[in-house]
Order: sequence, then structure tokens, then C-alpha cells
Amino acid sequence: MAGNRTFTMIKPDAVASGHIGAILAQINEAGFRIVAMKLTKLSQEKAGEFYAVHKERPFYGELVDFMSSGVIVAAILEKENAVADFRTLIGATDPSKAEPGTIRARFAKSIGENAVHGSDSDENAAIEGAFHFAGTEQF
Ligand code: RTP
Ligand code: MG
Repeated sequence: MAGNRTFTMIKPDAVASGHIGAILAQINEAGFRIVAMKLTKLSQEKAGEFYAVHKERPFYGELVDFMSSGVIVAAILEKENAVADFRTLIGATDPSKAEPGTIRARFAKSIGENAVHGSDSDENAAIEGAFHFAGTEQF
């Protein structure tokens, strides 16, 4: 069924701060089912590839350095209207502008170190999920 999956990463800042459990609990309580999940670390090259869409942006180098700086959790999530509902759950990119109670309002340190990633379209959710997980790793 189209439109029912999104892809997320718990970013290095939130993993290092010990927030994996709290973030996963909030994701589950919001009604998302975990389809695939792993603890992993991106090389500079892989982080650059993942965020290639931002290559021309001024923060690209910083973003790639940050995303390859530590362990992350990668996961595919399922729920009706998954992409939009997950973006609502995580809040604005800049945590100072994120709605109170959202994952970024609770756990993000700054606009760069902002705790979680969420896909921005069904198409990108499929591409990003396949970037991290083989079909046999998706349940
Ligand atoms: P994400 O892709 O990680 O879910 O974040 P997003 O859609 O809310 O934001 P996006 O525009 O896609 O930016 C990707 C990530 O780049 C970092 N960023 N830094 N310093 C800055 O001005 C700046 N702007 C964006 C953030 O880590 C952002 O999540
Ligand atoms: Mg984005």
C-alpha cells in the first residue's frame, strides 16, 4: 500500500545522549510499527550519498561530518499517512521552532544536531529505506 511507510534515523547526538529508548517509545506510542531497525554508523561517503540532495547547501559539509560522527539508529516505520504524520511527530528542523512535545523539541540540541531524520515524501521514504535495508531485513 502506497503512503504507509517512512524512514527515520536517530542521529548521533541523540544516540550519544542516551535517548534511543525514549524516542522509540514516543514513536511506538504515536502508532508507528517498526518494519526494520538497526544500530549502524555511516561513513563520510555514505552520509554524503544519503544527503546528496543538499550538496549545494552551505551546511552540507557540516551535515555530512555530523551524520558520520557517531552511531545512529536507522529504521523503517509503518502507519497510515506515515510520512506526514512522522514529520508532525518530530517537529520543525530548528528545535527552537518545534512544537512543544515533539521529538525535536524534547531532544534536539540545535538546527544541525536535531536528534532525528524523517523522510519528506513517499518516494524518498522508499529510496532511503532501500539505502539501509535489504528486502529480507524488512518485516
Ligand atoms: P531531515 O532531512 O534530517 O529529516 O531534516 P529536515 O527535513 O527537517 O531538514 P532538511 O532541510 O532536509 O535538512 C537536513 C538536515 O540538515 C541539517 N541542517 N542544518 N545549519 C543549518 O542551517 C541546517 N539546516 C539544516 C539538519 O540536521 C537537518 O535536519
Ligand atoms: Mg529533509
